[in-house]
Amino acid sequence: MKITVVGAGNVGATAAQRLAERELAEEIVLVDVVEGLPQGKGLDMYESAPVLGFDTKITGANGYDETAGSDIAIITAGLARKPGMSRDDLLQKNSAIVGGVTELLLAHSPDIILIVVSNPLDIMCSVALAKSGRPSNKVIGMAGVLDTARYRAFIAMELGVSVRDIQAMVLGGHGDSMVPLVRYTTVSGIPLSQLLDQERIDAIVQRTRGGGLEIVNYLKTGSAYYAPSAAAAEMVESIVRNQRRLLPCAAYLTGQFGIDGIYMGVPCILGSDGLEKIVEIDLSDDEHEALQSSAAAVKETLGKLEL
Ligand code: NAI
Ligand code: 2OP
Repeated sequence: MKITVVGAGNVGATAAQRLAERELAEEIVLVDVVEGLPQGKGLDMYESAPVLGFDTKITGANGYDETAGSDIAIITAGLARKPGMSRDDLLQKNSAIVGGVTELLLAHSPDIILIVVSNPLDIMCSVALAKSGRPSNKVIGMAGVLDTARYRAFIAMELGVSVRDIQAMVLGGHGDSMVPLVRYTTVSGIPLSQLLDQERIDAIVQRTRGGGLEIVNYLKTGSAYYAPSAAAAEMVESIVRNQRRLLPCAAYLTGQFGIDGIYMGVPCILGSDGLEKIVEIDLSDDEHEALQSSAAAVKETLGKLEL
């Protein structure tokens, strides 16, 4: 197993370290356009191996020759929004970056599975799909595992119970219109609605929707990366170890949930073949409507790009 992580910034570097610590690959290659950054971080990580006791080899590169023969790539390359830059500017710039990275990855690893992380996530997945020419089950986006982790964390904090006992899923696009499925949320099988009143549940749902912004407001110079990298590593682990975890991932939809032609967060089974199945669960009218309006928001943004 060889894994490439493109973008040696906060999410990429932290993800690489998590993958290495879990020995999910024999070899990890960290790629970035900044000279010395992936080489320095890669060496630093490998120097942690004797202490932490992992045998994964980690190297850094500014090109793609070193990535040849990769089985999986995590794409975290991209720009953050800067003052004076509109969302549309960011959309155009990051789609050029993600598109370029995808073509370079594919030129060296034609059978690769892509896990996209760069924002705007659901749109960048479509860019990677279009540029890779891979079947859609080999191009998967990370957002739902992160949004669900935030939701689970907030519930655990509210109830004072272990995060391990919260089962939940957040579907939809990775934005304000994401859809935490309250009806399917349980604490060791007990429906959340039996443990919290509606007002507190609504507050948790709202906090989840603003979870990314909450971290940005604290950090001021960047966005979250500990939870995002953990979420990407969980998806990679399910593929590498063929665990067939049922996780909310951004998947290309071809009519599932009545949605067609876009990426969005839905329940997926991840195994050695990549995205092995989209699980179409029953939704109430309200949940269905919320998912449709999230899809409309993704479609509107996607419409601004020429793919
Ligand atoms: P960062 O700024 O720390 O790292 C981005 C890295 O990408 C930088 O090191 C930069 O040099 C590199 N880069 C830029 N262009 C490149 C290219 N053409 N090829 C290779 N590397 C290139 O940003 P961070 O915090 O690591 O976030 C990365 C991306 O992930 C952002 O777009 C962010 O919005 C997104 N993100 C998405 C999440 C999700 O849930 N899907 C969660 C967290 C972050
Ligand atoms: C997040 O949700 C910025 O998308 C990123 O933290």
